[in-house]
Amino acid sequence: MTDTAFATFVSPEFVRGLPKAELHMHIEGSLEPELMFELAQRNGITLPYASVDEIRAAYAFSNLQDFLDIYYQGASVLQTAEDFKDLALAYFRRLAADGGVHAEIFFDPQTHTDRGIAFGVVMEGLLAGMDEAERTLGVTSKLILCFLRHLSEDAAFETLELAKPWLNKLAGVGLDSSEVGHPPAKFARVLRAARDLGLKVVAHAGEEGPPAYVWEAIDVVKVDRIDHGNRALEDAALTERLVRDGTTLTVCPLSNLKLCGVPSLDVHPLKRMLDLGLKATVNSDDPAYFGGYLLDNYLATAAAVGLTRDDVVTLARNSFEGAFLTQAEKAERLARLDAYVAAH
Ligand code: HPA
Ligand code: ZN
Repeated sequence: MTDTAFATFVSPEFVRGLPKAELHMHIEGSLEPELMFELAQRNGITLPYASVDEIRAAYAFSNLQDFLDIYYQGASVLQTAEDFKDLALAYFRRLAADGGVHAEIFFDPQTHTDRGIAFGVVMEGLLAGMDEAERTLGVTSKLILCFLRHLSEDAAFETLELAKPWLNKLAGVGLDSSEVGHPPAKFARVLRAARDLGLKVVAHAGEEGPPAYVWEAIDVVKVDRIDHGNRALEDAALTERLVRDGTTLTVCPLSNLKLCGVPSLDVHPLKRMLDLGLKATVNSDDPAYFGGYLLDNYLATAAAVGLTRDDVVTLARNSFEGAFLTQAEKAERLARLDAYVAAH
């Protein structure tokens, strides 16, 4: 008999109400087609699509690069601080509705500065959205600046310079965009410089790239978390190391499905990761493009791979334990989680 034969049924309402954090979400990837149209109109930009339906129809990807090409094009409607604020607030409203109480969001400044939008415009807008979300929704958040790994190390250093006046508003730096051919070691020096400035360091690794990139992320870059990490499972010694170190993996099931990292959600490795003792978390990555926000990711994966109630609680617990919060802040949120579990 399989484990799932003994599985405690986990109700969607239980998962929705469960306090949880999201640790892997690119704010530009939360741009819904409706808001894309609205901002295009507001800013006098012509989109290469005639309707929201036409945009959604274009969201059929066969790999990461397919998606990135469309994602960078969509971000062109973001022009003013108000646009970035509206984008952030729309995301936080969805997160709060999903039972999210904390988020650590990625942003890609180079996508904006390279088309003439000032770094400060992006920061002011996102920070205004984050402030308002905390005041009106009770959702706390942190910002992680991602360097685009298809660009040069020099370009990343220039971006780090732009970030220096904003250091106290940033929790960390990360690496995103096209993984294969751009290993973490390409950015070891700039990530080290960011760490020396007091920032946490994360990197997308093992999404499409080989286990060797995950090894590099932990041994060369010495990351604080691995974003994705799926392909680490191909290497038993690497898996063992991640378990031993308690490294948080920010896993994104619907993203993996949409970018063809898995042929179907039933064979997604999330359950296996938990059974191996990996500190996996569930995240939405680019929810407007991949067909679901945080709760959708929990529920679709729970149904597909047979997550138990205990699994789901572990995932939510991992999301707080892996967050860039102080021990006291984690304890406060974990106590909320424990109280919820005890009451339901
Ligand atoms: N992978 C790499 N880069 C990204 C992603 C992703 O899933 N989303 C936005 N930028
Ligand atoms: Zn990502």
